[in-house]
Amino acid sequence: MKTIKSTPLQEINRILNEILLINVRPSIKKSKNYIENCFENNNYLIGRFSDVNGNPQKAFKLLEEYDYHTAQHGIEVREMSMNLSKHMDKEFDENLLDAALLHDIGKAPLPKEVLYKEKFSGERLTKEEKRKIRTHPIMGESIGIIAKLHPSIVYAAAAHHDYKNGRGYPHINPKGIIEMLVTLYPDIYKESLDKQRIIGNTNLITLCNDMSLIGDASIISVADMICATIDPNRKEYQKKYTKSQLYNILLKRLKDGFYEKNTVRAYLRHEGKKDTLITKIFEIYGIK
Ligand SMILES: [Fe+2]
Ligand SMILES: [Fe+2]
Repeated sequence: MKTIKSTPLQEINRILNEILLINVRPSIKKSKNYIENCFENNNYLIGRFSDVNGNPQKAFKLLEEYDYHTAQHGIEVREMSMNLSKHMDKEFDENLLDAALLHDIGKAPLPKEVLYKEKFSGERLTKEEKRKIRTHPIMGESIGIIAKLHPSIVYAAAAHHDYKNGRGYPHINPKGIIEMLVTLYPDIYKESLDKQRIIGNTNLITLCNDMSLIGDASIISVADMICATIDPNRKEYQKKYTKSQLYNILLKRLKDGFYEKNTVRAYLRHEGKKDTLITKIFEIYGIK
């Protein structure tokens, strides 16, 4: 029988410390103890994630085993991300799809009674419980690193609730996370590093744009919002949204700088709207 070593937990704590060091995220600093406890209580899970060794299918199987609903949500977000990228004339990108599938992987170590309190008991989450759920991007970032998943997946897991206008959480510092990924995954980055002649910290943002990390995370974040809003499993007490209400939310958020214009345009195209109509809709909402 395979014995569970303490190494994965020590490793995750080391990664967590690095994440906290390179990023200025006061809210996460406050939650550090909680995150550490969650990992400690799931030492076995963390050990199994360390065996994933870069294989996204293996990571998905584990997520499905631990958290079936989050895994199903991942499948929906993957499909929506694929639809959006088709309408953005983006080349087929397996990394984007894996990142969409696994974006909420950080929910795996969270206690189910908190994660599904609203869904299954109908009771509202307390402030403290909400704060706990909001740790999932950092959990996901840590798991992604220990599972040696591709940087696109790690970045999306960390940044899918961070918006272009600075709203959201946990306030990922793209330069910081890329710096860490470059150090941790020199083999994956090697080609780009050679091409860009990256020395020290220069051009890290160019590099992450090149690898479309930020672009992919923002597609996933729109797909996530769409799937969560029109989720057929919403409970009776949760507001049910019609398609036109969803358009309204998306367009208002676009105007407020949450999303990229081409991603929202892609969704409207996916819904069968012609470009001339989309231009008119953008004008009505004052979107430049
Ligand atoms: Fe999430
Ligand atoms: Fe999600």
